[in-house]
Amino acid sequence: MSDPSEPPAFPSTAAALLPDGAMEGRVVVVTGGGTGLGLEISRGFAALGASVIVPSRSPENQAAFLEEARARGWKAAGYQLDVRESAEVRRFAEWVASEHGPADVLVNNAAGNFVCPAERMSANAWRAVLGIVLDGTFYCSKEFGKQMLASGGGAICNIIATYAWTGMAGVTHSASAKAGVLAMSKSLAIEWAGRGVRVNCVAPGPFESDGAKQNLWPSEEVEERIRSSVPMGRFAGREEVAAQVLWLCSDASRYVTGADITIDGGLSLGSGKMWEPGERFTRKRERSDT
Ligand code: COA
Repeated sequence: MSDPSEPPAFPSTAAALLPDGAMEGRVVVVTGGGTGLGLEISRGFAALGASVIVPSRSPENQAAFLEEARARGWKAAGYQLDVRESAEVRRFAEWVASEHGPADVLVNNAAGNFVCPAERMSANAWRAVLGIVLDGTFYCSKEFGKQMLASGGGAICNIIATYAWTGMAGVTHSASAKAGVLAMSKSLAIEWAGRGVRVNCVAPGPFESDGAKQNLWPSEEVEERIRSSVPMGRFAGREEVAAQVLWLCSDASRYVTGADITIDGGLSLGSGKMWEPGERFTRKRERSDT
């Protein structure tokens, strides 16, 4: 049996978990899809045959994906976009429809986050994160949701975090925004269920991410503290998180809507430990005189 504390020898992309060509002919938009988790999601969809568009604020962040797509013959495009600007998002959605056709899949992955004590958080800092995560997710869902409703269906997957419901010290802005996205997803799921548009969430715990490393666990010590609190004893690989997104946006999950899938190695199950695996308790036998 494999050692559960070691990451599995995973296939090169999360795409290997679905049949070849499972996304052929689909138009997929992954916000922030050129770096980190977004890049892994984009690679997965592209490897399954989709046309993948990766909007992000900086063209440099799209370069690695577009270069890999050229080399592998994947269908891919970049677009410069700030998801906080509703008019920009509307123009982007029109461009996607005219250049590639209406979107079949939208992954709201773009995010901003940093640790900041609430009492020191400026209004701009609060707005920067709420703007990207909450406003951006709604603007994109609205514009691409309209295309999906008009074309007969589609799937939206929102990347949230388990602290959307547990809360987390130091990231009040992000936790509040992700909680809003969770409520938004369930509301849209109900509103659009009868018209073929599914809306789901993936809630990762800590996963390998340069952005998170820089902003959330900048020292080895903090990283180790977080890792040791995960029952599985490790962070998720980006491919393991991306695999859930691909599944939720594929036909394999066509009866799933309004769901949120936690992928956190057991972290959010709570850490109250009465007993450690392997620990032995000696049972004292009471003597009975009867
Ligand atoms: N701590 C405290 N405040 C911070 C901060 C930090 N680490 N980073 C940004 N802010 C504050 C800024 O000071 C500013 O507030 P002010 O005007 O009162 O000073 C406000 O947030 C906006 O910052 P700014 O950098 O001008 O905004 P932006 O829109 O260009 O970028 C982010 C905001 C969050 C997107 C940016 O910090 C970023 O790019 N982060 C890295 C990407 C990321 O977070 N990825 C997700 C990893 S989990």
